[in-house]
Amino acid sequence: MTLNFVGRDILSAKDFTREEFDYLIEWGQKMAADQSQASPEFVNILQGKVLASLFFEPSTRTRLSFESAMLRLGGSVIGFASGDVSSTKKGETLADTIRTVANYADAIVMRHNLEGAQRLAAEFSTVPIINAGSGAGEHPTQAMLDLLTMKSELGTIDGLTIGFAGDLKFGRTVHSLAYVLSNYDVNLYFISPKNLPMQNRVLETLMSKQVKYKIGNNLQKVIPELDVLYMTRIQKERFADIEEYEKLKGAFILHADDLVSAKEEMIVMHPLPRVDEIHPSVDETTHARYFQQVKYGLYMRMAILGLILGGLK
Ligand code: NCD
Repeated sequence: MTLNFVGRDILSAKDFTREEFDYLIEWGQKMAADQSQASPEFVNILQGKVLASLFFEPSTRTRLSFESAMLRLGGSVIGFASGDVSSTKKGETLADTIRTVANYADAIVMRHNLEGAQRLAAEFSTVPIINAGSGAGEHPTQAMLDLLTMKSELGTIDGLTIGFAGDLKFGRTVHSLAYVLSNYDVNLYFISPKNLPMQNRVLETLMSKQVKYKIGNNLQKVIPELDVLYMTRIQKERFADIEEYEKLKGAFILHADDLVSAKEEMIVMHPLPRVDEIHPSVDETTHARYFQQVKYGLYMRMAILGLILGGLK
């Protein structure tokens, strides 16, 4: 099967089909296999190509994994890691910044605190725009790497029961991941403090696709049923009222002891950074996969860049 991703934007996880996600998994796994070779095959496929990496919000993994992916495929990277150092600080519009950067790069990966920023950028860009996190909206490439992690670690997506826990309102990764999973035969649990529920627009999409989901706030009770527990950070930076954050922080803290009732094969994932929601005692259990997840992020972003920039066929 060959699908054409060349020149495509990645704005929302809703814009892709199951067939396309399966294709991305396939290429992510090929990248993983290739990187474990003594002399990898795909080291020059993006030679001469330039990625612009525009991060208006903090990032460690997303920015560095995209940049590493580009370099590992023979391409180059330009960009900035903070809006403070770009001309937006002088009052330049995002549209003008994008019109400019599109002259220098073959693709633009961008993180921004405003939800519609990437969609706007795509209107003004002559090169593909990749959404690396849009406010409390979406983070589609994180969801793609999460999918690759589940498939590689558990062998299947269909049939899985997946629990999302933490800040489901402001957490953009869980929005995109729910959209991705809505293409598969899964059972979902949304476990959050009452004030941080899964967004209605996501639930509406799930309903329209007849995905089975349940909502609750008792993490301990659902743990025995789960194949995947996807923990998230309370998104402090999205709270208008810091007192509200102070009340909710530490709402769910997972300790190794909480996993005694879990299925043997159950995996714990987290997009990272974690603050205190996963106690370090969990790191030592056989369930922890959040650091492996980081590695899958590199492979998935290699696949994405290779496909979008035409290096992989
Ligand atoms: C996430 C994000 O930026 O949305 N981080 C990431 O990209 N891995 C999750 C978070 O910040 O909590």
